[in-house]
Amino acid sequence: MATQRPPVCRTKPDGQARDGMNRFYDDIAADYDRLWGDQEYAADELAFLRDLAGSGPALEVGVGTGRVAIPLSGTGLRVVGVDPSPGMLAVLAAKADNAERANVEVLVNDLRLTGVRGTYTLIYCVFHTFFYADSRADQKRFLERARDLLAPGGRVVVEAYHAGASRLARWADGIRLTEVSPEGCEYEIYRHDGEAQTVHVTWVRCDRERLRCSSWTERYVTPGQLDDLATQAGLVSDQRWSTFGRAPFDANARRFVAVYRLPSAGGAQAGGGREQRR
Ligand SMILES: C[S@@+](CC[C@H](N)C(=O)[O-])C[C@H]1O[C@@H](n2cnc3c(N)ncnc32)[C@H](O)[C@@H]1O
Repeated sequence: MATQRPPVCRTKPDGQARDGMNRFYDDIAADYDRLWGDQEYAADELAFLRDLAGSGPALEVGVGTGRVAIPLSGTGLRVVGVDPSPGMLAVLAAKADNAERANVEVLVNDLRLTGVRGTYTLIYCVFHTFFYADSRADQKRFLERARDLLAPGGRVVVEAYHAGASRLARWADGIRLTEVSPEGCEYEIYRHDGEAQTVHVTWVRCDRERLRCSSWTERYVTPGQLDDLATQAGLVSDQRWSTFGRAPFDANARRFVAVYRLPSAGGAQAGGGREQRR
């Protein structure tokens, strides 16, 4: 009897990380919501972003399957979403067709926002998508483009993991089993470069019929470094929290939510929100 081996996709060397990232999201698009679509902080996230957006419109960078953009647009806000993965955007489009009051316009684009037009009261990039930029120059460019696309007093929100002690320990271990269930298992392999502040991730998922594997490089920053980049781009540091529920940021924080504002001549702000200065 012939035995069938599951298809295996090979990881690519660092220089081709973009291929790996694109393939990863196209490949898991149909499973994304089942795997990551149900975040316990989603209600806080939605309220936080809605509060800052004012009358809109809002721009989500790395919109994915619309986990955030679809319910946000359901509150009466127009949302434009950009993402480089056609697979993720196809899932978003199918969901939006079935959602009440969804108002999301999507563009295949990336953090560089090349050719993106409009004026936004809120530009947000959550779930550490900022770290998926292909280069440090792209991260800088994102903040500069955001500045150009914001209405006076408008905000940029970046939410990502904080590379604190627990994250560094995870990377130092080199491998992490993220799921074992009757359906399959999943693990990640890390190669961390502390000096360059990059982590090369190889992701492997084994389901009954299928073995999937992808790799990419994440370029992390600390909140302080992000503040410096935003200041250089002409934005003003406005708030920093460790959660969308506005828990204060401290050294033990696992994530950070950083908010920057485009100053307006009269000091007016596009949306609401409490202010916390460091
Ligand atoms: C972790 S998912 C987050 C999706 C969605 N924002 C959410 O919170 O559910 C990351 C998304 O970023 C997209 N992405 C990857 N590289 C990107 C880049 N350079 N610029 C913009 N988006 C990118 C992926 O295709 C994916 O849809």
